[in-house]
Amino acid sequence: METAGMEQDVLVAERRMLLDRLEEQPADALLALIALCDADPRPEKIDVGVGVYRDAAGNTPILRCIKAAEHILLQSQKTKAYLGSQGDAHFVELIKPIVFGDATAADDRIVGVQTPGGCGALRLGAELIAAADPDARIFVGQPTWPNHQPLIGRAGVNMVDHPYYDRDSREIRFDAMMEALRGARAGDLVLLHGSCHNPTGADLDLDQWRAIADLVSERGLIPFVDLAYQGLGNGLEADAAGTRLVVEAAEQALVAQSCDKNFGIYRERTGSLFVKGQNARIAALAFGNLLSLARTMWSMPPDHGAAAVRIVLSDPELRADWRVELDEMCRRIRTIRARLAAFDPRLEYIGRQNGMFSMLPLSPDAVLALRKSHGIYMAGSGRFNVVGLSDDGVERFAAAVTEHLPDV
Ligand code: LMR
Repeated sequence: METAGMEQDVLVAERRMLLDRLEEQPADALLALIALCDADPRPEKIDVGVGVYRDAAGNTPILRCIKAAEHILLQSQKTKAYLGSQGDAHFVELIKPIVFGDATAADDRIVGVQTPGGCGALRLGAELIAAADPDARIFVGQPTWPNHQPLIGRAGVNMVDHPYYDRDSREIRFDAMMEALRGARAGDLVLLHGSCHNPTGADLDLDQWRAIADLVSERGLIPFVDLAYQGLGNGLEADAAGTRLVVEAAEQALVAQSCDKNFGIYRERTGSLFVKGQNARIAALAFGNLLSLARTMWSMPPDHGAAAVRIVLSDPELRADWRVELDEMCRRIRTIRARLAAFDPRLEYIGRQNGMFSMLPLSPDAVLALRKSHGIYMAGSGRFNVVGLSDDGVERFAAAVTEHLPDV
């Protein structure tokens, strides 16, 4: 009797220690790299880890248009009362034609809500999919951004991997990708990077996007586009061209959009999720579901970034200045790419790619050796942030990495 009582006590004591039952989690590799680099005292260190834009001097400045908008916001904002789960509806209204084109502004088949960054949009989209179909599958080209797997997979959507890019040959494996997608069934989702593919920089060309759009329409597939870098590859319109093709071709589609990079407001966590239904009724049904799902996760998105973007986009002068600043960032990325490409034939492919990232076919040992000997901080996959290089770091970086590259 007494033993049973003691056992019960032990059980209760164990149950009280709920948190002890958690499993250790590895630190996020990309975010851990920021801390590692910060702790390195070498002044010549090169941070090409996490994807943030840097100017010629290596700084990540706040855009002029955002500073001006924040000033206006400070002067004019009258309340911080709740906005609701959809966030800033005017912000979403202004982003919609930037993503889908001017003609879609009044298209009631496409609805959107503000989200905490592109991550929030991806998660919300995944939750919507899982709510609609607990057995839903999404086809994902590999390699992809490491956070796609937990953001989408942990919402309960089954991830089906297929080849996308071959790091050694530096080529998109389009035939293998299409073969995999031909195995998808109606209602399956396809995750696509709208532009500036993360982590490879290797974007589909328009003919390839067209081929995917045809397949999507033929098979009844549902594109889920991650559009986190619009404007930083080949310009605002060009970077949305593929997204528009597949969304137009599909009866239903999702687009996770981010302002974090193209407005340089990373830590403000500003983005949106758009959903297209085949008609206004289905779009409205999806919208209602988005609101209730958002309510269970973040209730309402943070306001500041979206309010600043709304002010920029509503003011013709600030909007024009944003385009100038965005084009300047885009040009700088292209210039660095061209300099790397010219340095060595083994880096030539970098000049043909887009956006912040490219991938070097380096072994994990080489990545570590570069960190140790040259203070070069890049992801273990060989992904590096092209625009993490300051003007005087480009050739130094190229010389160091080419020491470790195999011949083409
Ligand atoms: C990146 O891939 O570096 C960025 O998208 C930042 C992040 O959250 O990982």
